[in-house]
Order: sequence, then C-alpha cells, then structure tokens
Amino acid sequence: MPPLPSTQNAALLSDLSSYIYGTTRLGDEQIPFGDRVKVAGMAMDAGVWFHTSHTYGDALNVLRTAFDQDRARVPKLIVKLGWTSIEEFKNVIQQNLEPLGLDSLELGQLCLGGQLAEEFANGGTCYKEFEQIKSTGLVKRFVVEVFPWTSWIALKALRGGYSAGLVDGYIFYLNPLQRFASNELWNEIVSRNEPVIAMRTVAGGPVHQLRDVPGAAWKEYLQKRAVEVAPVFERSGISSWPEFCVRFAHSFPQVRATVGATARPENLQEFLRAADNIRPLPQEIVREITRLHGRWSDELDMKAEPWSM
Ligand SMILES: NC(=O)c1ccc[n+]([C@@H]2O[C@H](COP(=O)([O-])OP(=O)(O)OC[C@H]3O[C@@H](n4cnc5c(N)ncnc54)[C@H](OP(=O)(O)O)[C@@H]3O)[C@@H](O)[C@H]2O)c1
Repeated sequence: MPPLPSTQNAALLSDLSSYIYGTTRLGDEQIPFGDRVKVAGMAMDAGVWFHTSHTYGDALNVLRTAFDQDRARVPKLIVKLGWTSIEEFKNVIQQNLEPLGLDSLELGQLCLGGQLAEEFANGGTCYKEFEQIKSTGLVKRFVVEVFPWTSWIALKALRGGYSAGLVDGYIFYLNPLQRFASNELWNEIVSRNEPVIAMRTVAGGPVHQLRDVPGAAWKEYLQKRAVEVAPVFERSGISSWPEFCVRFAHSFPQVRATVGATARPENLQEFLRAADNIRPLPQEIVREITRLHGRWSDELDMKAEPWSM
C-alpha cells in the first residue's frame, strides 16, 4: 500500500498531552503510599495523560486512590494490553479497568506476542476482535508497541495494509539513548508520517549520571551510549537533561508525546516545565543523534536477545 498523504495522519493522536506521566515509579513500595498518591494527584492537576499497566507493582492501587479523590479529574490513560491470545487480551483489559474503577480505556497499547502477533502481522482474525472491542467503546483507540525484536510484526502489518484504520500509531522507546524501532520500520514510519508515542523521556536518568555513576545505567550499553551523547548534550548549551530530552522527542514531527516517569514532585515539575512551549532541537543535533540511533540499531538492538535490553 502506498504511504498515506501526510495530512491524513495529522489528526491522529493529536489530542495527547505532549508530556505523558509514566507510572512505573508509582509502583515503588520503598516510597510511602501517600507520597505516591500525592505525586499522582499533581500529575492529575496538570491535566496530562497517564501511561500505566497492571504489571507496575501496586501502581494501580495508587492511581485508584488518587482518582477517588476527584473522579472529575481522572486522566486519559494509555494502558498496556496483551499478550498471546484474544482471551488473554480481554482479560488484561479487565485486570486494568476493575482496579481503577473505570469502564473504558482511552488508548490501548497492543503488546503482541505468540499467536496474536502472528495473526496481527498477517492480517488474521484478531483484527475483527480488536475492531469489536473498539466498537463497544471498551478501548477507544489502539497503538502498537514496538521493540527491536518485534519491529517485523508492525512492519508486516503496516506494509500489508492490515493495521491501517485499526491502529492510530506506534509506541516505543525513543529518547537520545534509545530508538527501539528497527531502521526499516523507523524509515517506514517517517515516510508514511505515522504517529509515534516516545517512551522513556530521560532514558532512565540524567546522562552524566548514566555515564559516570556505577550502576546508574541498568545495562552496560546505556552507559556506553551516555558516553557518546553527553558531549552532544553539552554542546547544545541546554542545562536541563529533561528539557533536552523532551525537545529531542518533539524534534520529530511524527511524535505526539513523550512518556516519562518520576515519583518526585520536583522532577514532575521539571518534566512539566520542559513540556511547556516545546522548541525542537537544532537540526544538526537531531541529525547527529539520529545517526547514532541508526548505528546502534544495526550494531546491537537488532542482534539482541528479546527482552535483554
Ligand atoms: N513497554 C512499555 O510499555 C514500557 C517500557 C518502559 C517504560 N514505559 C513507560 O514509560 C515510562 C517512563 O519510563 P522509565 O521510567 O523507564 O524511564 P524515564 O522516564 O526515562 O526515567 C525515569 C527515571 O528517571 C528519574 N528521573 C525522572 N526525572 C528526573 C529528573 N528531573 N532528574 C533526575 N532523575 C529523574 C526517575 O527517578 P525519580 O522517581 O527519582 O524522579 C526514574 O528513576 C514508564 O513509567 C512507563 O509508563 C513503558
């Protein structure tokens, strides 16, 4: 199928907040429950969308408590839904809705594995099921989750013309240190102007910490990438890493939002400040990091064992 004219995709996911509050840190039981509820409430006050999953520790309990304090301000949610069969998929919807006291989800993140991934890639029966779920309003829209090792699924469905109409965009790690779509899929997304939700805004923390503090980067490859990206960040003259990262994500016209997590009020404020009036980074910086992404993808990401990075 030829690429859609870019204007046709322009409206998709255009209602997302440019920064989305990621909720993994709300599942950290080392932090007092009340403090986590408070930071969730602050993100609600800011009016941004949230990204969550029933797999994030007790994050849904924290969210439920925050939502119950003011049901009028319940944010729009992106929720991970999967994995290998349609029965399991329907079950996962309920595993999120029930704890949150909700009856529908705004945006479902299709996390596809096994048989479900095969069907999706090949235009199989899952499409009827997903359309049915959408038509009842249980999940209003869908995006497809992509990793280096699952990029072929999204690519095959996109090129086969199966996912158009069902899927509003793609969600994957996209930050200065990671771009978890294969080069081939990324090029297809860019040329078709497909909407993207960029995950892991700050790649896990400040770049100098990732580079210099032993153990700060959860995998060695991230520490090595921080060595390459820190000079680019320094050259930009921008003092805040979150600002640099939010501007980086939004330097791509396809990107609708960047998803970043924090359990700290001051770090949430920094995300929110960075997302206020976003200016894309200078093109030469974006080009330099894009080149790194392309190289890292071929050298490591596409060769990596699934779920190893
Ligand atoms: N497959 C998936 O669906 C998937 C996978 C990964 C992530 N996600 C989503 O994306 C969200 C973000 O991912 P992530 O948490 O892995 O990456 P991230 O947002 O890039 O990094 C979060 C980490 O950075 C720290 N941090 C945030 N702001 C900071 C600041 N201003 N200064 C210093 N440290 C700061 C946070 O610690 P503090 O709490 O101490 O601030 C936290 O440890 C998740 O919550 C989740 O919703 C989805």
